[in-house]
Amino acid sequence: MSIIDGKKISAEIREEIKREAAALAAQGTTPGIAVILVGDNPASVSYVTAKERACAETGIRSFMTRMPSETTQKELLSEIERLNADERVHGILVQLPLPKHIDESAVIRAILPEKDVDGFHPVNLGKLLLGDDDAFISCTPAGIMELLRRSGVDPSGKHAVVLGRSNIVGKPVANLLLQKKAGANATVTICHTGTPEAGKFTRKADILIVAAGRPRTVTADMVKPGAVVIDVGVNRMLDSSRKSGFRLVGDVDFEAVSAVASLITPVPGGVGPMTISMLLSNTLKSAKLHAGRQS
Ligand code: GUN
Repeated sequence: MSIIDGKKISAEIREEIKREAAALAAQGTTPGIAVILVGDNPASVSYVTAKERACAETGIRSFMTRMPSETTQKELLSEIERLNADERVHGILVQLPLPKHIDESAVIRAILPEKDVDGFHPVNLGKLLLGDDDAFISCTPAGIMELLRRSGVDPSGKHAVVLGRSNIVGKPVANLLLQKKAGANATVTICHTGTPEAGKFTRKADILIVAAGRPRTVTADMVKPGAVVIDVGVNRMLDSSRKSGFRLVGDVDFEAVSAVASLITPVPGGVGPMTISMLLSNTLKSAKLHAGRQS
């Protein structure tokens, strides 16, 4: 078994982005992203801080808007409208989850699709289904595809099984694997909480993508020997031996499954670091498309 080192692959991608962002800036377009954080959810604050830091390291300008948790939907929509019109901003990200009184779907739909670097807008999800090259692909699914590509795993003709059907991971990654394109072209099965005996399907997978949102969902008996296993889970487990009081575990029983799989992503250090790298990559792509429209 070998580990897919998401940290290392992510660092390589960030170096490439840094070079391309500098070249674009030299031609007069500095890539820029606006990040909106409503409230002070500690996990969201730490994600947003990591995103800002990654932008600074790669030469992407970030514009941070922090709004109090009592912010009304109208106020948030008017901030998005302002950023939609700002020429320096090529990407807009509203950190989720939002406070309960705000309709996430209305907020996502208010972002111009050409600035939706999260890839959550229905236009971008539709383009993903169609296989359009100018779609923004949501960052975790895009990161999974990039991990496979850079690890030399060609999904073409393979049986990929996706465990999970969320709008931000399961559905998009299944559709990416299905595309009639290089780096995809897999036969895809999607399993979910309504699938009885998911193991019957996962055991057939050459590539198993696990985004179930529950620790130890996949045990060794559910994995075909030699399969490639991608663990998207990020679960906090109480651990008094840690300063933080918790440790992160994935959805896969890593120790047992790594004895069966040919390649496997660890948690942390697998899919996680790729998500921010894909956000940077989408922002660079948006800035390039913007520069192309200007010239
Ligand atoms: N919250 C957790 N993950 C994400 C993400 O990828 N994008 C946004 N906007 N919010 C998140």
